[in-house]
Amino acid sequence: MRGTGREAVRCPRGAVLLLAVLAMGCSFGDTPRRAAAPDAPSAQARPPAPVPDPRRSGTLDMSPATQAMQRDDSANPAMLAVLGGRQRWRAVQGAGARSCADCHGEPESMRGVAARYPAWDEPARGPFTLAQRINACRSRHQGLPAWRPDEEALLSLSALVGLQSRGLPIRPDTDPRLAAPRERGRERYERRIGQLNFACADCHDRLAGRRLGAATIPQAHPTGYPIYRLEWQSIGSLQRRLRNCMTGVRAEPFALDSPELVELELYLMQRAAGMAVETPAVRP
Ligand code: HEC
Ligand code: HEC
Repeated sequence: MRGTGREAVRCPRGAVLLLAVLAMGCSFGDTPRRAAAPDAPSAQARPPAPVPDPRRSGTLDMSPATQAMQRDDSANPAMLAVLGGRQRWRAVQGAGARSCADCHGEPESMRGVAARYPAWDEPARGPFTLAQRINACRSRHQGLPAWRPDEEALLSLSALVGLQSRGLPIRPDTDPRLAAPRERGRERYERRIGQLNFACADCHDRLAGRRLGAATIPQAHPTGYPIYRLEWQSIGSLQRRLRNCMTGVRAEPFALDSPELVELELYLMQRAAGMAVETPAVRP
């Protein structure tokens, strides 16, 4: 199934509900706010109390059954894609060609890599997502035609590489040349779009934790991608998820691998810095 613009939107009923809620002028200021500092009189004498991290993985917004499915590798359907990725890691296509393993050794050598993507790519003079980086190895180092961004082979290799960072904190690439595209991603996250005129931030900052149709609105942390989405019945990328959100507000979704989606990814990873990688996650 391709990530077309027509799928997966639990709007319009939910969106109408949301609009109604917004129109009532309610304020939902209880979600990702930092806790107020304690006003103890002797505060200056003591070190400040640690501020609890208000960020929360979307995993915690799922039903206990779906969370259990994600946590148990033998039940997590994304692990099948990882297995496929392991086979591709060793596969050689064409005489004289080299496999991923020939150059990189075991997949375990990729520990920590997924936690810092999108990263700066010198030949492309711009940011590369992990999938684009893998695809660059395919075209530059294996001499093979690049995979389409939503191709199973690429998703399964991304899941395999992502799994090697599971449990590690997200550590965005600090290359200063990423600052401008990351900032464009932040602006886009705040900008209202679509016929419903919602910004990402309206839902994922201001309404996170509320229900939208059958779903709880998560905080939109990209900790578990690629994911296995039960609704898709397949593994899919973060960009596919973002396109679903864009069609959800009746906006024309950006193309897969477009600079706009890469910039949004850059910003979302920065916003989730320090949170643990959970790849491959399961989503309803
Ligand atoms: C109208 C509200 C709404 C808007 C606007 C919206 N989303 Fe979402 N988003 C959702 C809902 C609801 C889900 C969860 C859907 C589900 O689980 O079925 C979601 C899921 C996500 C996720 C997956 C989080 C996870 O834990 O896997 C990400 C990332 C995300 N959105 C990013 C964005 C970005 C970026 C934008 C702006 C381009 C955006 N969303 C706009 C409602 C919205
Ligand atoms: C001929 C050797 C070669 C082959 C084959 C190869 N790579 Fe690479 N790979 C490299 C080199 C060299 C780099 C460092 C960046 C560069 O120079 O392109 C790299 C970088 C990477 C990175 C980024 C690592 C980081 O620390 O940021 C990933 C991920 C990766 N390769 C995955 C793969 C996968 C998956 C395959 C198989 C589809 C593959 N590579 C095939 C040589 C190779």
